[in-house]
Amino acid sequence: MSKGVMPVSRIIGLGVGIPETVLSNADLEKMVDTSDEWITSRTGIKERRIMKKGERTSDYCIKAAREALAEANVDPLELDAIILATISGDMRFPATSVFVQEAIGAKNAAAWDVSATCSGFLFALYNADTLIQAGRAKKILVIGSEMLTSMVNWDDRATCVLFGDAAGAVVLTKAEDDRGILSIAIGSNGSYVDLLYSIGIGTASRTGGTENGEAFLFMNGNEVFRHAVRMLERTAVEVVHKAGLQPSDIDWLIPHQANTRIIKATAERMGLPMEQVFLNIHKYGNTSSASVPLAMYEARKEGKLKDGQLMLSVVFGGGFTWGGMVVRF
Ligand code: ACO
Repeated sequence: MSKGVMPVSRIIGLGVGIPETVLSNADLEKMVDTSDEWITSRTGIKERRIMKKGERTSDYCIKAAREALAEANVDPLELDAIILATISGDMRFPATSVFVQEAIGAKNAAAWDVSATCSGFLFALYNADTLIQAGRAKKILVIGSEMLTSMVNWDDRATCVLFGDAAGAVVLTKAEDDRGILSIAIGSNGSYVDLLYSIGIGTASRTGGTENGEAFLFMNGNEVFRHAVRMLERTAVEVVHKAGLQPSDIDWLIPHQANTRIIKATAERMGLPMEQVFLNIHKYGNTSSASVPLAMYEARKEGKLKDGQLMLSVVFGGGFTWGGMVVRF
């Protein structure tokens, strides 16, 4: 009998959509007053991927969705729902998920988007896990995708060096044995909106947005950092205990890739050595809601996260929002 509670749902396929264009720290040195040394030592980021003009968020979601469905051996017609987490979708409406639905031919799926910044993927997965638990869906496609380079202020060195574009997708179905999502939790606190928000799109910008209608992202990184470290630890402890486990049972910490220093602090507080932490922030930067599915995908492809192993994931983002889960693969 394996340790921990029994799961409700299980990930049976993973896929990603990654832009080809690489923007390195050296490239950024030519754009703003920054250095590879500053970016690497403060964040752990060496390069990030950026979408090309004319491309859409859904282009990468569709790619990720097709790969996840192929691995899961699930026909798009079998999907009951498509839940897509994004704050940088194709249009203000309709939801980006309907473009995915149309492209992959998932005619029987209801499709909607979830907005929870960098925690979006966990929020979408929480929705999906709950639907499966309630018996309202059997197979769900969950996507996290962000093209935040389309809304960063390229003159603001404090934020433009941080973000990258990507999409990640999973197919979720009912668990049949001890493999699956053992615990999942999400949370929000609207007291800190002033520390991380966007201007330019939305009714709040009617009285104070950018003149040309562009959307910009604003962040007080230092303050966000402080809150992130505290909430990530609290959430990690919560989901590990909810799963009926102890931190020492965890094989891999696969957290939101926002900053290597935040990740190291979280691992330290959980008593997990860095050899048990999966990092790909150096290649992609902060890809927001795509970060966790992209990291899970690479950890699996690289043969690190093996069948039967326990993964702890924690996320934090604007809102504030946060979430965590423990998954047995
Ligand atoms: N290059 C060079 N110098 C810079 C840069 C840069 N790109 N950016 C800022 N600096 C300078 C600042 O101006 C400041 O200079 P000063 O001391 O002369 O005033 C100095 O570097 C230190 O700046 P801080 O902001 O204090 O740097 P910090 O060590 O806090 O690192 C960072 C900044 C990387 C943003 C960090 O605070 C962080 O990672 N925060 C959390 C991010 C996060 O987790 N966000 C949540 C998810 S995002 C979402 O939800 C959309």
